[in-house]
Amino acid sequence: MTLTRSTEASGSSKPRILTGDTPTGRLHLGHYVGSVENRLALQKDYDCYFLIANKHAFTTRADRPDEIRQSVIDIATDYLAAGIDPNIATLFIQSEVPAIDELTFFFAMLVPFNRVMRNPTLKDEIRDKELGDNYSFGFPLYAVGQVADILAFRPVMVPVGEDQLPHLELTREISRRFNQLYCGVDPQTEDRDYVKKGGLFPIIEPKLGRVKRLVGLGAPGANGELLKMSKSLNNAIFLSDDAEAVQKKIMGMYTDPKRLRATDPGETNPDKNPLWALQETFNPDTAWVAEQQEAYRNGKVGDVVIKRKLIEVINTLIDPIRTRRKQFEARPDDVLDVLKQGARRANAVAEETLALAKQKMKQDYSTRTLTIS
Ligand code: TRP
Repeated sequence: MTLTRSTEASGSSKPRILTGDTPTGRLHLGHYVGSVENRLALQKDYDCYFLIANKHAFTTRADRPDEIRQSVIDIATDYLAAGIDPNIATLFIQSEVPAIDELTFFFAMLVPFNRVMRNPTLKDEIRDKELGDNYSFGFPLYAVGQVADILAFRPVMVPVGEDQLPHLELTREISRRFNQLYCGVDPQTEDRDYVKKGGLFPIIEPKLGRVKRLVGLGAPGANGELLKMSKSLNNAIFLSDDAEAVQKKIMGMYTDPKRLRATDPGETNPDKNPLWALQETFNPDTAWVAEQQEAYRNGKVGDVVIKRKLIEVINTLIDPIRTRRKQFEARPDDVLDVLKQGARRANAVAEETLALAKQKMKQDYSTRTLTIS
C-alpha cells in the first residue's frame, strides 16, 4: 500500500535515496571521491534526492545570510556541473520543504536530550568550531532535523561520509521508536523487517564513498599524519578551479622529503606523501602508478614528473565539469529553476510522508496541498 502511494508521489518506481550537504563553500576533490562520484553512479538506478541543508548552515552562521545564499547557489552549480542530471535526480533546498520541520518537532519528542548530546559529530563540531557552551538551541536540534531530512523521504539508503554515521545511527533509533510507538511494530523485529511489519519508516542503511578521507596538498599535521582535504585548511583543489590554478597548486604541493634518500622501499611510505595518495586515488592507469612509485622510491624519478602527470589526470577529470559550469554560469536562472522544480518534487514525497506520519500519530485533522511557485 505505502509503496504504491509513494510511487505515485515521486512519479518513479525506483527505490529512493536521500543525502545532503551543508552549504559551507564550493565542492573540492575530497567531496568528489567521498560523495559526488557515488551520486553520479547512483542517479541512474535510484530515485535520488539531494538536499542542500541551508538551515544547518544557520546553526553556526546565522549572522551571515548573504554568504549562505551564495553557498547554496555555488553548491547547486557544482553538482550540476559535476553531472548530476536534474531530469533524473532531484536537487532541492531544505527550507523549501516545510514537512521536514514539522517532522523534526515530532521526532524531537522521541529521543532524550542527553542522547542527542552524546553524538560524537556534534561534540567534534563544538570542539573544532570552538562553540564552548555558547551554541544556540538550534545547534543540537539540527541532529534531529537531519533525521527528518532523511525520514521525510523514507529512503532505502543514505550515501554519506564517515563523519555522518552518528547522525544515521540516530535516524535508525528514532525510526525504530516511531514504528514501535505509532505503528505497532514489535521491538524484537529485525531492522530490515520494520516496513514489512507495518512500520512507516525504513531502518536506513548508510553507504560510504570509495575514498573515506582524501588527503590535502599540505604537509603532515602535528601527529605526523597528512591532514584531510578541506577548504578551511587551505589545502584543496576545487571542482571550480581553472587549469592554471590546478597546475599552480600541484606544482607547489608538499611531498615527502625522504623519498629520494630511501634505499629500502619500506622506509618511504607513499601514504605519507600526498603526491602518491592523489595518484592512487585519481590516476586510472594503475600500472603506471605502481611502476613509477617503485622508480620514485629508488630515486630514479623526481617530484616534477609525477606532479606533471597528476596535473594532467586532475585536469582530465575536471575539464568536462568546467565546460558544463560555463553553460550554467551563462544562464544563472537555470540553476534556480532546477531548485524550484526540485522543491516541487521533494514536497510531493515529504508531504505524503508527513500525512502518513500524522495518521499514525492520530493527529490527522485535515488535509492540505502545498503549491510552489
Ligand atoms: N550534515 C550533513 C553535512 O554536514 C548534511 C546533511 C543534512 C545531510 N541533512 C542530511 C546528509 C541528510 C545526509 C542526509 O554534510
